Amino acid sequence: MNYKVYFAKRIADSLDEQLTEQQAYELIETPKYASHGDLAFPCFTLAKTLRKSPALIAEEFAVKMNDPLFEKVEAKGAYVNVFLDKAAVSKQVVEAILQQGSHYGDLSFGKEQTIVLDFSSPNIAKPFSMGHLRSTVIGSAIANIAEKCGYKAVRINHLGDWGTQFGKLIAAYKRWGDESKIKENPIKELFSLYVKFHEEAETDKQLESEGRAWFKKLEDGNEEAHRIWKWFRDESLKDFSRIYELLGVSFDSYNGEAFYNDKMEHIVHLLEEQNLLSESDGAMVVRLDEKELPPCLIKKSDGATLYATRDLAAAVYRYETYQFAKALYVVGREQSLHFQQVFSVLEKLGFDWAKTMVHVPFGLMLKDGKKMSTRKGRVILLEDALKEAIALAKQNIAAKNPGLENKEEVARQVGVGAVIFYDLKHERTNNIEFSLEDMLKFEGETGPYVQYTYARSCSILRNAQTAVTNTIHGLTTEESWKIVKLLASFPSVIEKAYEHLDPSLIAKYVIDLAQAFNSYYAHTKILVKDEELNSRLALVQAAAIVLKEGLRLLGIETPEQM
Ligand code: ARG
Repeated sequence: MNYKVYFAKRIADSLDEQLTEQQAYELIETPKYASHGDLAFPCFTLAKTLRKSPALIAEEFAVKMNDPLFEKVEAKGAYVNVFLDKAAVSKQVVEAILQQGSHYGDLSFGKEQTIVLDFSSPNIAKPFSMGHLRSTVIGSAIANIAEKCGYKAVRINHLGDWGTQFGKLIAAYKRWGDESKIKENPIKELFSLYVKFHEEAETDKQLESEGRAWFKKLEDGNEEAHRIWKWFRDESLKDFSRIYELLGVSFDSYNGEAFYNDKMEHIVHLLEEQNLLSESDGAMVVRLDEKELPPCLIKKSDGATLYATRDLAAAVYRYETYQFAKALYVVGREQSLHFQQVFSVLEKLGFDWAKTMVHVPFGLMLKDGKKMSTRKGRVILLEDALKEAIALAKQNIAAKNPGLENKEEVARQVGVGAVIFYDLKHERTNNIEFSLEDMLKFEGETGPYVQYTYARSCSILRNAQTAVTNTIHGLTTEESWKIVKLLASFPSVIEKAYEHLDPSLIAKYVIDLAQAFNSYYAHTKILVKDEELNSRLALVQAAAIVLKEGLRLLGIETPEQM
């Protein structure tokens, strides 16, 4: 139950129409100090309409508001302070969580609606960059959050699997390639062929035209070119899949740029029909002057089609296939203009669903304050970061818990959890300084700290050796109250995280909950056999359920022992 909503309703009810529930809700504050209660309602706004002093209104309220869930209602200056009844609220919250289990916090506003998420979307034959990592973990978390809100989520990996670079790559392969090496280490070998092509092309003028010729063959459907391209694509995907498996991320579709090769003509046709195409230096563009945007390039002078045209075709295809209520593109901010242009062209074409499309940008991963670029070797291969994190987790286990069963599995869960959490705890749009050292920290505001707290709660429940029943009373200490209040706010945190499309709200929440839990643990003898034992264990179990569910939304696993 959301007690803020509850209080807002009580205020609105007792006011007959001076304020709506929603207005009251927006005014309610959470006092900084416990001595001011759990919720506070400022009466300044009402003072204007009621033509009374705010203090007088507050006093009248304080007298009127009695409710079994309110222990005390107090007027303090212009504020009405509400002290919730700890025992009554704790009982309600903990019982609800034990009853609903992992479904606690499920919301329904997305019910029967589909949301499509375009995320990760790396480029074939190129290393998976830090930007792609960010897109992958943010996109995947947003998809989980959307599902928690009731939506059906469709996860799409819009692979960069077409373009002139594939002509170059085939040319390079024909000259220097080694099939078995590529099979062993696809991305690494293909990328070094690509780099070699560019190095050699500086002196060997023949190369560029070979590359162009192969791309032409590819576009014309030449059997050999197509076979090699497809092989590059398959091998690259195998490599990417290893990372996705490590991260525990999956997709419903890998339809990338190539998938739209035969779907762009339709878009060009629609644009022509509506007289939206104009010529500019021999290229075909859609002018977007009225939006003060540069024209969107549809066809280059050499007839080759472009990134934007594929995205237009992809949007139409996705709408026809999924009838989405919302479409998200989790892609770096440097593509902001591109998406503005694509969305504007779709609007011009009269698709009213274009309004539901959102570009969800995120901050850069910086190294020493500078952007990490693939070219300059700044990129630290993602897999290496993950592997190091896993190795470190293994060391920790060897030192602290050498007898642990399934060590390998737990080390993977913890190492990967550290990397994912490090990314997601930052506000989505902020830049992040890449620090392997910080990524590998397991204490403080980290994924492993939350995982460790979860494992601790599991061990308490194991040690209790008794089944927890859903009959709760007591739970009135400051420490348990902190946990209960956080537990009660979980659904509204999910809603906010969805509204802002920002998983960091959930990352911060699980840190707060883990801290509250650990301070409860430090202050309370949980396993003492008295009449509150079952209630304390129930609180531990409720916290465990919510920690696990919070981490699950972020894409992080929760070992029961570590
Ligand atoms: N492959 C692109 C890149 O790595 C990202 C694609 C994003 N999605 C899209 N529909 N344009 O920059």
